[in-house]
Amino acid sequence: MLNPESEWFGFRHVKPQDKTGLVRGVFDSVAEHYDLMNDLMSGGLHRVWKDRLVAMMSPQAGQTLLDVAGGTGDIALRCYRRTEGKADITVCDINPHMLKRGRARMIDEGILPQGQGTSRPIHFITGNAEELPIPSRSVDLYSIAFGLRNVSRIDNALREAARVLRPGGRFFCMEFSPGVSPLLKPVYERYCMSVLPWLGEHVAHDAEAYQYLAESILKFPPQAALAERMKKAGLDNVRWTNLTGGVAVIHSGWKL
Ligand SMILES: C[S@@+](CC[C@H](N)C(=O)[O-])C[C@H]1O[C@@H](n2cnc3c(N)ncnc32)[C@H](O)[C@@H]1O
Repeated sequence: MLNPESEWFGFRHVKPQDKTGLVRGVFDSVAEHYDLMNDLMSGGLHRVWKDRLVAMMSPQAGQTLLDVAGGTGDIALRCYRRTEGKADITVCDINPHMLKRGRARMIDEGILPQGQGTSRPIHFITGNAEELPIPSRSVDLYSIAFGLRNVSRIDNALREAARVLRPGGRFFCMEFSPGVSPLLKPVYERYCMSVLPWLGEHVAHDAEAYQYLAESILKFPPQAALAERMKKAGLDNVRWTNLTGGVAVIHSGWKL
């Protein structure tokens, strides 16, 4: 069955047509505290994982990069710095509040408004990973970090990634995974189900949103299952790298 997760909002059974709106509501609510919460929830580890992702992507000047579910722009900013502003970078996210914070951040960093000389700005566009407003075969590097588990129809999003990539282009997905090492599993699950909602309540003032985020991690397909779905969507040479005992995972694939 394609897209089984479309009927689940965390552990709650929902109608597929309602899920995207529910997820959007979560990120409307968390946008303001999103960056601070990321640091608190991961003890800063998300920065190390994101550095690793961008090192693996190895973006080059002149390439076209698309960061889907790019939120407040963490991946785009790293790619911008790595290419010294000489790649064409687009952040696409379904949530305008998250993008607004990302854009404000780029202005603070002095990146926007810019785009003069050889330096290119970062573009922000609102769009759904399942129906990207991007031409086919136009992207060299596609990334989606901590985004895919929030997408209602993962198989559709993977097919869209394969569609927009040029032959020779690469796909990268970084996600939390339920497939952590057996030693870490009990602590990890308790952390997800107790500490995350507690932080959500006390810092972002929305325990439910963080309860959903924790549940969505535990519902996400484990490493091998996601790899199979990537292959079915048209990606090749699929592999994955576990980070921190499998708490986070980077999947990669090629469009051939
Ligand atoms: C956990 S945040 C990750 C943000 C950023 N990539 C990062 O690593 O910090 C998840 C993002 O996915 C976005 N999102 C959820 N469903 C989406 C969809 N169907 N299409 C595009 N973006 C989506 C949310 O709006 C949110 O900004």
